[in-house]
Amino acid sequence: MYASFCSIGAYAPKKVLSNSDLEQMVDTTDEWITKRTGIKERRIAADSELTSDMGVEAAKIAIERSGLDKSEIDLVICATISPDYFNMPSTATIIASKLGLGTIMSFDISAACTGFVYALSVAKAFIESGMKRSVLIVGAEKLSSIIDYTDRGTCILFGDGAGAAIIRATDDKSRAIIDVHTGSDGEYADLLMTPNGGSGSIHDDGSKTFIKMRGNETFKVAVRTLTNDVVDILRENALSSDEIDHFIPHQANYRIIKAVGDALGLRDDQVVLTVHKYGNTSSSSIPMAINDIYESGRLKSGDLMLLDAFGGGLTWGSALVPFAPDGD
Ligand code: ACO
Repeated sequence: MYASFCSIGAYAPKKVLSNSDLEQMVDTTDEWITKRTGIKERRIAADSELTSDMGVEAAKIAIERSGLDKSEIDLVICATISPDYFNMPSTATIIASKLGLGTIMSFDISAACTGFVYALSVAKAFIESGMKRSVLIVGAEKLSSIIDYTDRGTCILFGDGAGAAIIRATDDKSRAIIDVHTGSDGEYADLLMTPNGGSGSIHDDGSKTFIKMRGNETFKVAVRTLTNDVVDILRENALSSDEIDHFIPHQANYRIIKAVGDALGLRDDQVVLTVHKYGNTSSSSIPMAINDIYESGRLKSGDLMLLDAFGGGLTWGSALVPFAPDGD
């Protein structure tokens, strides 16, 4: 049994936070943000809109596009670092309940911006082992709930949103997800963390748990790790970068994406970019980018996608994924 990537959906909240809005909030400029990151604006969820609500909206679209009846879904995995509630219940459980999926298995994955690729890897393993047949994977983030809007080093980067995909069992190898690579290195844990609120809290004074990042060091490790990971997955599967239809990197920073694309010799038309309009949406960024090329008509049945992610942990992952929209 193989696993195929059969549908995509995404949701972006309505409210736009532009660079000029941020100029009014912290000591920054549109010019600095654009030049250093490529970001022009990001979306911010309404106060009443939870991470699960955005995940549900994205999931509804992915389920409808898959042609599945929702009763066929037998597992929900949600990747998030901004869950509805820290620790419990999981956001996946809430999403499954809001969608009316019954009492199926559901759980969250915490792998920061690599979360969607980790979820894909777990869904693939469940399907290939024969334990599950139709898995809903969701990347959903309300990062605005864990951002310090007085910290100009982080608040300019992040936005809210969600993306979802249906991964299904198939016996047709030509439609199957080819490979997923995942890795982590806790030696770099302190580059990117939410230091408050857990058993390792550094300043557990009851304040909110905000993202803290050593951006410049993270940047350098990101370029190296993203490039190496893609080189490895292509070599191990005897593919060249020419054979990739869509390179879909985690949308953290245009300069990171450009450096990785150049190192791999990718043409501009192969590289998918949404960072200018959504900023960094962590685990949602890759499925939101896939949805973007789907809705603009660029993503066709059989196209080969190369996903490449990097995030807090540190974690990283890449995947070679044919788009297989017609079910099994
Ligand atoms: N506006 C104006 N100036 C700023 C801003 C800002 N918003 N932020 C920082 N600066 C200043 C700094 O204070 C510094 O000033 P100094 O030279 O007087 O000390 C100067 O700009 C340069 O700062 P750097 O941090 O060296 O700037 P850099 O070019 O590295 O860009 C950025 C910063 C955009 C954060 C970049 O480092 C980056 O994108 N890092 C990687 C982020 C990432 O990929 N994270 C992983 C995924 S996220 C996740 O997993 C949740």
